[in-house]
Amino acid sequence: VQSETGLTWTGSSKTLAEKPRGMNSNKGKFGHVLVVGGSWGKAGAPSMASLAGLRAGAGLVTAGVVESIVGIVAGVAPELMISPLMEKTKLLANLEGKKFERLMKGITVLAVGPGLGTDGDAPEFARQLVAKTTVPVVIDADGLNAFAEKTELLKGAGRTMVLTPHPGEMARLAGMTVKEVEADRVGLARRFATEHGVTLVLKGWRTLVAHPDGSVAVNTTGNPSMAKGGSGDILTGIVAAMLAQFPDDVARAVEAAVYLHGLAGDFAAHAMDEHTVLATDTVIHLSDAFRYRV
Ligand code: APR
Ligand code: MG
Repeated sequence: VQSETGLTWTGSSKTLAEKPRGMNSNKGKFGHVLVVGGSWGKAGAPSMASLAGLRAGAGLVTAGVVESIVGIVAGVAPELMISPLMEKTKLLANLEGKKFERLMKGITVLAVGPGLGTDGDAPEFARQLVAKTTVPVVIDADGLNAFAEKTELLKGAGRTMVLTPHPGEMARLAGMTVKEVEADRVGLARRFATEHGVTLVLKGWRTLVAHPDGSVAVNTTGNPSMAKGGSGDILTGIVAAMLAQFPDDVARAVEAAVYLHGLAGDFAAHAMDEHTVLATDTVIHLSDAFRYRV
Protein backbone atom coordinates (compact mmCIF):
# COMPACT_ATOMS: atom_id res chain seq x y z
CA VAL A 1 0.00 0.00 0.00
CA GLN A 2 2.74 2.41 0.95
CA SER A 3 4.40 2.15 -2.45
CA GLU A 4 1.17 3.17 -4.21
CA THR A 5 0.85 6.79 -5.22
CA GLY A 6 -2.26 8.92 -5.26
CA LEU A 7 -3.72 7.45 -2.09
CA THR A 8 -5.37 9.59 0.57
CA TRP A 9 -6.37 8.58 4.09
CA THR A 10 -9.83 8.36 5.61
CA GLY A 11 -9.01 10.60 8.58
CA SER A 12 -9.01 13.67 6.35
CA SER A 13 -12.79 13.25 5.98
CA LYS A 14 -13.45 13.13 9.68
CA THR A 15 -14.03 16.89 9.90
CA LEU A 16 -17.44 16.14 8.41
CA ALA A 17 -18.48 14.62 11.73
CA GLU A 18 -16.96 17.42 13.80
CA LYS A 19 -19.23 20.24 12.68
CA PRO A 20 -21.68 21.07 15.48
CA ARG A 21 -25.33 20.58 14.63
CA GLY A 22 -27.40 23.70 14.11
CA MET A 23 -29.32 24.60 17.25
CA ASN A 24 -32.63 24.47 15.36
CA SER A 25 -31.97 20.95 14.03
CA ASN A 26 -34.66 18.30 14.06
CA LYS A 27 -34.53 14.59 13.32
CA GLY A 28 -35.85 15.10 9.81
CA LYS A 29 -32.54 16.70 8.92
CA PHE A 30 -30.52 13.61 9.70
CA GLY A 31 -32.25 11.05 7.59
CA HIS A 32 -34.11 7.79 8.12
CA VAL A 33 -32.11 4.58 7.76
CA LEU A 34 -33.81 1.28 6.95
CA VAL A 35 -31.75 -1.80 7.84
CA VAL A 36 -33.01 -4.87 5.99
CA GLY A 37 -31.47 -8.13 7.11
CA GLY A 38 -31.67 -10.87 9.69
CA SER A 39 -33.15 -14.33 9.59
CA TRP A 40 -33.94 -17.02 12.13
CA GLY A 41 -30.71 -17.53 14.11
CA LYS A 42 -29.16 -14.33 12.78
CA ALA A 43 -31.05 -11.63 14.62
CA GLY A 44 -27.89 -10.06 16.02
CA ALA A 45 -26.55 -8.74 12.71
CA PRO A 46 -29.43 -6.36 11.88
CA SER A 47 -29.71 -5.49 15.58
CA MET A 48 -26.09 -4.35 15.69
CA ALA A 49 -26.29 -2.48 12.38
CA SER A 50 -29.41 -0.69 13.65
CA LEU A 51 -27.88 0.15 17.01
CA ALA A 52 -24.78 1.55 15.33
CA GLY A 53 -26.98 3.55 12.96
CA LEU A 54 -28.76 5.15 15.91
CA ARG A 55 -25.54 5.85 17.78
CA ALA A 56 -23.81 7.31 14.70
CA GLY A 57 -26.45 10.00 14.42
CA ALA A 58 -29.20 9.01 12.00
CA GLY A 59 -32.44 10.91 12.71
CA LEU A 60 -34.47 7.70 12.64
CA VAL A 61 -33.62 4.03 12.21
CA THR A 62 -36.04 1.27 11.26
CA ALA A 63 -35.16 -2.42 11.06
CA GLY A 64 -36.96 -4.37 8.34
CA VAL A 65 -36.80 -7.94 9.60
CA VAL A 66 -38.85 -11.13 9.28
CA GLU A 67 -41.64 -11.61 11.82
CA SER A 68 -39.94 -14.47 13.70
CA ILE A 69 -37.12 -12.21 14.92
CA VAL A 70 -39.00 -8.93 15.39
CA GLY A 71 -39.12 -9.30 19.17
CA ILE A 72 -35.39 -9.97 19.42
CA VAL A 73 -34.32 -7.11 17.17
CA ALA A 74 -36.70 -4.63 18.79
CA GLY A 75 -35.00 -5.32 22.12
CA VAL A 76 -31.68 -3.84 21.03
CA ALA A 77 -32.88 -0.27 21.64
CA PRO A 78 -36.25 1.34 22.42
CA GLU A 79 -35.34 4.05 19.88
CA LEU A 80 -35.44 1.51 17.07
CA MET A 81 -38.57 1.15 14.93
CA ILE A 82 -39.50 -2.09 13.20
CA SER A 83 -41.07 -2.95 9.86
CA PRO A 84 -42.06 -6.62 10.12
CA LEU A 85 -41.50 -8.62 6.94
CA MET A 86 -43.38 -11.74 5.86
CA GLU A 87 -40.93 -14.63 5.65
CA LYS A 88 -39.95 -17.78 3.80
CA THR A 89 -42.11 -18.26 0.71
CA LYS A 90 -43.66 -14.84 1.24
CA LEU A 91 -40.40 -12.91 1.32
CA LEU A 92 -40.79 -11.52 -2.21
CA ALA A 93 -44.37 -10.43 -1.48
CA ASN A 94 -42.92 -7.76 0.79
CA LEU A 95 -41.81 -5.98 -2.35
CA GLU A 96 -45.30 -5.67 -3.80
CA GLY A 97 -47.83 -2.85 -3.76
CA LYS A 98 -48.88 -1.20 -0.50
CA LYS A 99 -46.59 -3.43 1.55
CA PHE A 100 -43.55 -2.11 -0.28
CA GLU A 101 -44.77 1.50 -0.16
CA ARG A 102 -45.16 1.23 3.61
CA LEU A 103 -41.71 -0.31 3.98
CA MET A 104 -39.96 2.49 2.07
CA LYS A 105 -42.07 5.43 3.25
CA GLY A 106 -39.79 8.26 4.40
CA ILE A 107 -36.65 6.15 4.09
CA THR A 108 -33.59 8.11 2.94
CA VAL A 109 -30.91 5.39 3.17
CA LEU A 110 -31.18 1.62 2.80
CA ALA A 111 -28.73 -0.89 4.29
CA VAL A 112 -29.25 -4.45 3.13
CA GLY A 113 -27.66 -7.76 3.96
CA PRO A 114 -26.50 -8.29 7.56
CA GLY A 115 -27.77 -11.68 8.70
CA LEU A 116 -30.18 -11.97 5.78
CA GLY A 117 -29.09 -15.52 5.00
CA THR A 118 -28.75 -17.21 1.64
CA ASP A 119 -31.65 -19.66 1.83
CA GLY A 120 -34.69 -19.68 -0.42
CA ASP A 121 -35.75 -16.33 -1.84
CA ALA A 122 -33.35 -14.27 0.31
CA PRO A 123 -30.84 -13.52 -2.49
CA GLU A 124 -33.59 -12.66 -4.98
CA PHE A 125 -35.28 -10.53 -2.32
CA ALA A 126 -32.05 -8.56 -1.78
CA ARG A 127 -31.50 -8.05 -5.51
CA GLN A 128 -35.07 -6.92 -6.17
CA LEU A 129 -35.12 -4.63 -3.13
CA VAL A 130 -32.01 -2.84 -4.39
CA ALA A 131 -33.39 -2.67 -7.94
CA LYS A 132 -36.77 -1.29 -6.83
CA THR A 133 -35.35 1.52 -4.69
CA THR A 134 -33.52 4.69 -5.64
CA VAL A 135 -32.23 5.92 -2.26
CA PRO A 136 -28.54 5.53 -1.37
CA VAL A 137 -27.88 1.90 -0.51
CA VAL A 138 -25.26 0.12 1.56
CA ILE A 139 -24.86 -3.52 0.58
CA ASP A 140 -23.12 -5.87 3.01
CA ALA A 141 -22.72 -9.53 3.94
CA ASP A 142 -25.47 -11.74 2.45
CA GLY A 143 -26.58 -8.76 0.37
CA LEU A 144 -23.18 -8.97 -1.33
CA ASN A 145 -23.45 -12.73 -1.63
CA ALA A 146 -26.75 -12.22 -3.45
CA PHE A 147 -25.06 -9.99 -6.00
CA ALA A 148 -21.99 -12.21 -6.35
CA GLU A 149 -24.13 -14.45 -8.57
CA LYS A 150 -25.10 -11.44 -10.72
CA THR A 151 -22.48 -8.71 -10.46
CA GLU A 152 -23.74 -7.12 -13.69
CA LEU A 153 -26.67 -5.84 -11.59
CA LEU A 154 -24.28 -3.78 -9.47
CA LYS A 155 -24.57 -0.45 -11.19
CA GLY A 156 -24.01 2.71 -9.18
CA ALA A 157 -24.71 5.04 -12.10
CA GLY A 158 -27.42 7.48 -11.06
CA ARG A 159 -27.60 6.29 -7.48
CA THR A 160 -25.32 6.03 -4.50
CA MET A 161 -24.22 2.45 -3.95
CA VAL A 162 -21.75 1.50 -1.21
CA LEU A 163 -20.44 -2.06 -0.93
CA THR A 164 -18.67 -3.23 2.23
CA PRO A 165 -17.09 -6.64 1.51
CA HIS A 166 -14.54 -8.40 3.66
CA PRO A 167 -11.87 -10.18 1.59
CA GLY A 168 -13.98 -13.36 1.35
CA GLU A 169 -16.99 -11.47 0.04
CA MET A 170 -14.74 -9.49 -2.31
CA ALA A 171 -13.33 -12.74 -3.67
CA ARG A 172 -16.84 -13.99 -4.42
CA LEU A 173 -17.79 -10.68 -6.09
CA ALA A 174 -14.67 -10.60 -8.24
CA GLY A 175 -14.57 -14.34 -8.99
CA MET A 176 -11.10 -14.65 -7.44
CA THR A 177 -9.48 -16.35 -4.49
CA VAL A 178 -8.97 -14.48 -1.22
CA LYS A 179 -5.23 -14.76 -1.82
CA GLU A 180 -5.58 -12.96 -5.15
CA VAL A 181 -7.71 -10.26 -3.52
CA GLU A 182 -5.15 -9.67 -0.80
CA ALA A 183 -2.26 -9.59 -3.28
CA ASP A 184 -3.51 -6.40 -4.95
CA ARG A 185 -6.10 -4.79 -2.70
CA VAL A 186 -5.69 -1.27 -4.03
CA GLY A 187 -5.73 -2.23 -7.70
CA LEU A 188 -8.74 -4.51 -7.35
CA ALA A 189 -10.76 -2.08 -5.23
CA ARG A 190 -10.08 0.76 -7.64
CA ARG A 191 -10.96 -1.35 -10.68
CA PHE A 192 -14.18 -2.69 -9.17
CA ALA A 193 -15.32 0.74 -7.97
CA THR A 194 -14.75 2.44 -11.31
CA GLU A 195 -16.16 -0.40 -13.42
CA HIS A 196 -19.38 -0.61 -11.41
CA GLY A 197 -19.67 3.05 -10.44
CA VAL A 198 -19.83 2.18 -6.75
CA THR A 199 -18.06 3.11 -3.52
CA LEU A 200 -16.18 0.01 -2.46
CA VAL A 201 -15.11 -0.48 1.15
CA LEU A 202 -12.64 -3.38 1.11
CA LYS A 203 -12.39 -4.32 4.77
CA GLY A 204 -9.61 -5.81 6.86
CA TRP A 205 -6.49 -4.36 8.45
CA ARG A 206 -6.05 -1.05 6.56
CA THR A 207 -9.55 -0.99 5.08
CA LEU A 208 -9.67 0.72 1.68
CA VAL A 209 -12.38 3.09 0.46
CA ALA A 210 -12.38 3.15 -3.35
CA HIS A 211 -14.57 5.72 -5.10
CA PRO A 212 -16.23 5.60 -8.53
CA ASP A 213 -13.78 8.24 -9.79
CA GLY A 214 -10.81 5.94 -9.11
CA SER A 215 -9.53 7.68 -6.00
CA VAL A 216 -8.73 5.46 -3.02
CA ALA A 217 -8.40 6.27 0.67
CA VAL A 218 -6.61 4.07 3.19
CA ASN A 219 -7.95 3.70 6.72
CA THR A 220 -5.47 4.01 9.55
CA THR A 221 -7.70 3.09 12.49
CA GLY A 222 -8.86 -0.26 13.83
CA ASN A 223 -7.13 -3.15 15.55
CA PRO A 224 -7.34 -6.93 16.08
CA SER A 225 -9.98 -6.55 18.83
CA MET A 226 -12.33 -5.98 15.89
CA ALA A 227 -11.60 -9.41 14.43
CA LYS A 228 -14.78 -10.73 16.01
CA GLY A 229 -18.28 -11.42 14.68
CA GLY A 230 -20.44 -8.33 14.54
CA SER A 231 -17.75 -5.73 13.78
CA GLY A 232 -18.78 -5.59 10.13
CA ASP A 233 -22.46 -5.19 11.02
CA ILE A 234 -21.56 -2.20 13.18
CA LEU A 235 -19.70 -0.63 10.27
CA THR A 236 -22.73 -1.06 8.02
CA GLY A 237 -24.88 0.91 10.45
CA ILE A 238 -22.31 3.69 10.79
CA VAL A 239 -21.91 4.04 7.02
CA ALA A 240 -25.68 4.22 6.57
CA ALA A 241 -26.04 6.81 9.33
CA MET A 242 -23.29 9.00 7.89
CA LEU A 243 -24.89 8.84 4.43
CA ALA A 244 -28.21 9.79 6.04
CA GLN A 245 -26.65 12.89 7.63
CA PHE A 246 -24.34 13.92 4.80
CA PRO A 247 -26.06 12.83 1.59
CA ASP A 248 -24.32 15.52 -0.46
CA ASP A 249 -20.83 14.32 0.34
CA VAL A 250 -20.89 10.57 -0.18
CA ALA A 251 -17.14 10.07 -0.48
CA ARG A 252 -16.33 11.87 2.73
CA ALA A 253 -19.30 10.38 4.58
CA VAL A 254 -18.13 6.84 3.84
CA GLU A 255 -14.50 7.60 4.63
CA ALA A 256 -15.46 9.26 7.90
CA ALA A 257 -17.64 6.26 8.80
CA VAL A 258 -14.78 3.82 8.23
CA TYR A 259 -12.38 6.00 10.18
CA LEU A 260 -14.78 6.48 13.12
CA HIS A 261 -15.58 2.76 13.25
CA GLY A 262 -11.90 1.87 13.57
CA LEU A 263 -11.22 4.66 16.03
CA ALA A 264 -14.10 3.54 18.23
CA GLY A 265 -12.53 0.07 18.16
CA ASP A 266 -9.19 1.57 19.17
CA PHE A 267 -10.79 3.36 22.12
CA ALA A 268 -12.60 0.16 23.11
CA ALA A 269 -9.40 -1.91 22.99
CA HIS A 270 -7.64 0.71 25.12
CA ALA A 271 -10.42 0.85 27.70
CA MET A 272 -10.87 -2.93 27.79
CA ASP A 273 -8.55 -5.50 26.26
CA GLU A 274 -8.10 -6.61 22.67
CA HIS A 275 -9.38 -10.08 23.53
CA THR A 276 -12.48 -9.04 25.44
CA VAL A 277 -13.91 -6.23 23.31
CA LEU A 278 -17.28 -7.03 21.78
CA ALA A 279 -18.54 -5.38 18.61
CA THR A 280 -21.22 -3.64 20.65
CA ASP A 281 -18.49 -2.19 22.89
CA THR A 282 -17.13 -0.30 19.91
CA VAL A 283 -20.58 1.32 19.60
CA ILE A 284 -20.27 2.60 23.17
CA HIS A 285 -16.90 4.12 22.30
CA LEU A 286 -18.22 5.87 19.20
CA SER A 287 -18.58 8.99 21.34
CA ASP A 288 -14.83 9.02 21.97
CA ALA A 289 -14.24 8.65 18.25
CA PHE A 290 -16.56 11.51 17.32
CA ARG A 291 -14.95 13.76 19.94
CA TYR A 292 -11.36 12.93 19.06
CA ARG A 293 -9.53 15.68 17.19
CA VAL A 294 -6.79 14.60 14.82
N1 APR B 1 -7.55 -4.43 12.09
C1 APR B 1 -8.44 -3.48 11.77
N2 APR B 1 -9.75 -3.71 11.54
C2 APR B 1 -10.19 -4.96 11.63
C3 APR B 1 -9.33 -6.03 11.98
C4 APR B 1 -7.94 -5.72 12.22
N3 APR B 1 -7.06 -6.67 12.55
N4 APR B 1 -10.06 -7.16 12.00
C5 APR B 1 -11.31 -6.83 11.67
N5 APR B 1 -11.40 -5.51 11.45
C6 APR B 1 -12.59 -4.75 11.02
C7 APR B 1 -12.73 -4.86 9.52
O1 APR B 1 -12.04 -3.84 8.85
C8 APR B 1 -14.24 -4.72 9.35
O2 APR B 1 -14.65 -3.38 9.40
O3 APR B 1 -13.77 -5.34 11.57
C9 APR B 1 -14.76 -5.46 10.56
C10 APR B 1 -15.06 -6.95 10.29
O4 APR B 1 -16.08 -7.07 9.36
P1 APR B 1 -16.54 -8.48 8.75
O5 APR B 1 -15.34 -9.22 8.28
O6 APR B 1 -17.65 -8.23 7.82
O7 APR B 1 -17.02 -9.25 10.06
P2 APR B 1 -18.50 -9.53 10.57
O8 APR B 1 -19.51 -8.96 9.69
O9 APR B 1 -18.56 -9.09 11.96
O10 APR B 1 -18.50 -11.06 10.48
C11 APR B 1 -19.67 -11.82 10.69
O11 APR B 1 -20.83 -11.48 8.60
O12 APR B 1 -20.03 -10.63 6.58
C12 APR B 1 -20.60 -11.73 7.23
O13 APR B 1 -20.34 -13.88 6.45
C13 APR B 1 -19.66 -12.86 7.11
O14 APR B 1 -19.37 -14.55 8.77
C14 APR B 1 -19.25 -13.20 8.54
C15 APR B 1 -20.21 -12.44 9.43
MG1 MG C 1 -19.63 -8.90 7.68
